Amino acid sequence: MPLDVMRVLFSAAEIAARVEALAGEISRALPAELVMVGLLKGAAVFVADLARALDRAGADPEIEFIRLSSYGLAKESSGAVQLLGDIPGGLTGRPVLLVDDIVDTGRSIAYAAAQLRGRGVSDLWICALLDKPQRREIEIALDFVGFTIGDEFVVGYGTDYAEKYRHLPYIGVVE
Ligand code: IMP
Ligand code: MG
Repeated sequence: MPLDVMRVLFSAAEIAARVEALAGEISRALPAELVMVGLLKGAAVFVADLARALDRAGADPEIEFIRLSSYGLAKESSGAVQLLGDIPGGLTGRPVLLVDDIVDTGRSIAYAAAQLRGRGVSDLWICALLDKPQRREIEIALDFVGFTIGDEFVVGYGTDYAEKYRHLPYIGVVE
């Protein structure tokens, strides 16, 4: 798939401005010493930028990641989610901000949220860079959303199509 079949949805500058604003919202609402838990691999780029924006907003986040399976090489979720990589330390009593790149059907984030709640976190908030509400199959409340988009398949800024395009600094739509 050549890059020229892609339409830029959010430029690097637009993403940076939104991440900065999101960090402000989060730092005003959450305790400063929160634990960010990102979902690999898609949220890695967003977590890296959001963590540094949170620092500028006065927060003091720890950074953890968990890895879920589900998409494989397909554009559509297989529906079955599994935990492939876990957090070594405990999260008992800690305030946690679960961070993902995109909430689509909601299955991944709902599964991850249930996993984290089962570990006795004191509070759990959910932050997604992109929300596709039209695609939702599982109802789940998102506390912080970067951008709401339609039923479009996007790539870049951490998100992929068959492992390609994660490195793009912008978010594009595959036409
Ligand atoms: P869900 O479980 O259906 O909500 O799927 C969420 C995960 O699928 C996200 O964390 C993304 O990694 C991936 N995903 C969903 N939509 C897209 C897309 O448009 N492009 C790339 N990855 C996507
Ligand atoms: Mg993902």
